[in-house]
Amino acid sequence: MRYRKLGSSDLEVSEISLGSWLTYSGGVAFEQTRACTDAAFEAGINFFDTANVYGRGAAESAWGEILSSRPRDSYILATKVWGQMSDDPDDRGLSAAQIAKQIDASLERLRTDFVDLYQCHRFDPDVPVEETIEALQQVVAGGKARYLGFSEWTAEQLQAALDIAGADLFVSSQPQYSMLWRAPEKELFPLCSANGISHIVWSPLAQGVLTGKYRPGETPPADSRAASSDMNFAMDRLMNDTILETVERLRPVADQAGLSMADMALAWVLRRPELASAIIGASRPEQVHGNANASGIELTPDTLEAIDEAMGDVMITEPTLGPLARAGVKHR
Ligand SMILES: NC(=O)c1ccc[n+]([C@@H]2O[C@H](COP(=O)([O-])OP(=O)(O)OC[C@H]3O[C@@H](n4cnc5c(N)ncnc54)[C@H](OP(=O)(O)O)[C@@H]3O)[C@@H](O)[C@H]2O)c1
Repeated sequence: MRYRKLGSSDLEVSEISLGSWLTYSGGVAFEQTRACTDAAFEAGINFFDTANVYGRGAAESAWGEILSSRPRDSYILATKVWGQMSDDPDDRGLSAAQIAKQIDASLERLRTDFVDLYQCHRFDPDVPVEETIEALQQVVAGGKARYLGFSEWTAEQLQAALDIAGADLFVSSQPQYSMLWRAPEKELFPLCSANGISHIVWSPLAQGVLTGKYRPGETPPADSRAASSDMNFAMDRLMNDTILETVERLRPVADQAGLSMADMALAWVLRRPELASAIIGASRPEQVHGNANASGIELTPDTLEAIDEAMGDVMITEPTLGPLARAGVKHR
C-alpha cells in the first residue's frame, strides 16, 4: 500500500481507504463489517470514512465498537456532518448549534475523543457560511477534530469560504469521481490544488459497476448491491444498457493491460496527483484485499488512451446522489 499526504495536513493516508455508506450502516451484517475492517488493516489501509447520517449513527456505532479495540494512532478517522439525523426536519445542516451537537454525538458513537478529519457532507445554503466556519473552527480548537474538509461543495461555495477563512481552513475535498463521473476535474481540482486541498474521492468503482460485475440485459448477481433493496436506491443512473455496454468495452482494455477491471478503475482515479485517496466500499473482505492491490499500479499512456476510446462520450451527467440528497430523501 502506498500513502499520500492529505492536503496541507501532517496525515499520510493510504491510497485506498474504506468507507461505510450503505454497507456498514446496515446493508452488511456486523460480523462482515468487522471482517472487512480487519481486512483493511491487513492490507495496509489506515484511512476510514464515515458520516453521522449513515444509518443515522449506525455506521459510526459499528466502527466505534470495532475500531476502539485498536490503538487510536493506528488509524485515521474521518466523519461528516449535515444530513438529517431524526424525523425532525430541523435536525440537519451546518448551523453552529447542529455542528456542536453532532460532533459530540459522533465522538460518542465512535468511542474516541477526536476525529482526524471532520467534513461538511454538503453545503448548507440556509446558514451563513461564516457561522459554519466559526463552528467548525471551534470543533478544532476544542480538540475534537484535527482537520476539516468538505464534500460536494461547488467551486463558488469553496471560494466563498476561502475568502473568509483562508487556505488553511480545509485540507480535503470529497467529491464523487470515477471514469463515469469526471465533473470535478474542471473547476474543483484546480481550485483545490491552488489552495493545498487534496481529494478523497467517493464511489470510484461507480458502486461496483466499473468492476464489470453487471452485464447489459442480465439480472444483477443476487449478492450484489444492485440486487439489494436496502442498498440500490442510488444506482438508477448507473444500471442502464448505455452505461453497462460502455463498461463492457473496458473489459478488453483491462485484459490487454493484465489488470482486473476494478484495479484499472481505481488506478485510473489514482493517476491524478490531486487525489490523496480513493474511498472504496466493500461488502466482503476479498474485495478489500483485491482493491488494495490497485495502489501502486501505474496505467500506461496506451491504456489511458484505450480507456478514453472505450468510454467515448458516455458519462453520467447528473450526480448519482446529489438530487436525492437535496430532495431530502433519506440518506442511508
Ligand atoms: N460524500 C458523499 O456524499 C459520499 C457519497 C457516497 C459514498 N461516500 C463514501 O465513499 C465510500 C465508497 O462509496 P461506494 O460504496 O459507492 O464505493 P464503490 O467502491 O464505488 O462501490 C462499492 C461497492 O462495489 C462492490 N465492490 C467493491 N469492490 C468490488 C470488487 N473488487 N468486485 C466486485 N464488486 C466490488 C461492493 O458492492 P456489492 O458487493 O454489494 O455489490 C461494494 O460495496 C462510502 O462508503 C462513503 O464512505 C461518500
